[in-house]
Amino acid sequence: MTDKKEYINKVFFHSNENMKELPDNSVDLIITSPPYWDIKDYSKTGGELGNEQKHSEQNEADMGAIKSYEDYINRCLITWKECYRVLKPGCKFCLNIPTVNRRGKMGAYSISYDMRKNILENTPFKFFNLVVWHKKSRPNPFSEGSWPFPGEIYTWFGLTEDIIIFVKPGEHPDEYDEEIWEKSQLTREELNEFINPVWYILPPRTRTSEHSAVMSLKIVENLVKMYSFVGNLVMDPFTGSGTTLKGAKLLDRNWVGYELYPFYKSVIEKNLGVKLADELPQEQVEPVKKVDEPEQKTKIEDLMF
Ligand SMILES: C[S@@+](CC[C@H](N)C(=O)[O-])C[C@H]1O[C@@H](n2cnc3c(N)ncnc32)[C@H](O)[C@@H]1O
Repeated sequence: MTDKKEYINKVFFHSNENMKELPDNSVDLIITSPPYWDIKDYSKTGGELGNEQKHSEQNEADMGAIKSYEDYINRCLITWKECYRVLKPGCKFCLNIPTVNRRGKMGAYSISYDMRKNILENTPFKFFNLVVWHKKSRPNPFSEGSWPFPGEIYTWFGLTEDIIIFVKPGEHPDEYDEEIWEKSQLTREELNEFINPVWYILPPRTRTSEHSAVMSLKIVENLVKMYSFVGNLVMDPFTGSGTTLKGAKLLDRNWVGYELYPFYKSVIEKNLGVKLADELPQEQVEPVKKVDEPEQKTKIEDLMF
């Protein structure tokens, strides 16, 4: 049996397709936001993908670099199956995912629907709840389409995202003492706020952050309060800058994360105010570079769009 000390309050820098450090039924809550499909480049030299595509195709484990939409949905399923394995029965898996991805002049991908369907059809997870995150921010000009003529008018792309909450069937195995019940209670004000199915929350200002797709800390905090107890273990398989782990830590929960790119280690450390363990597997210290690629001097700050 793995000692909890081996994985609690740690980040593992390798692909989440095999979360080998985590035993079955060891995590109390999962909150995550997978890479956007083929929109952002999370590699050290990457940023927002524009006309000049420079995806980190060299790192095959990067879920954001997968070209085919079907492959993207199916590769993420490998991670969701691992999430199912490590989550305790009765516990929640919160997936933040865009509602719609626009592609080309015609058509769009209903990404949250496709991913939800794939999870429900291919894992024993059950659907538990849905929150719509309204970003209160700029509308997307593409929506005007054929205006003033009818036919090609879309609702604003990207203005909302879904937070889909799944549950692993079964009874939660742990019992808590009175102090934990007491400390984990929600106030009436919090309840009134959280039960509104639409959360109006401004996204973080990605231009001034150190990761190109940072999640909202407020969303994490809401979910941590709703679905975990003080002292529980909260996990994010796509850690990025560490927002989920930060929210867990701020609310006296334990945390564990997976992130493909070790160069986010310093960003996570800064975000959490902790020093992470040093030992990184040698082969993962830097993303693989193409042989004929010149040395890139790009800083993480340059990843912003
Ligand atoms: C949308 S970002 C997560 C952002 C995070 N929620 C935050 O607030 O900073 C997705 C992250 O997943 C990482 N990633 C992509 N493929 C991965 C894989 N196979 N295993 C682990 N991490 C991966 C990317 O490097 C990126 O940092």
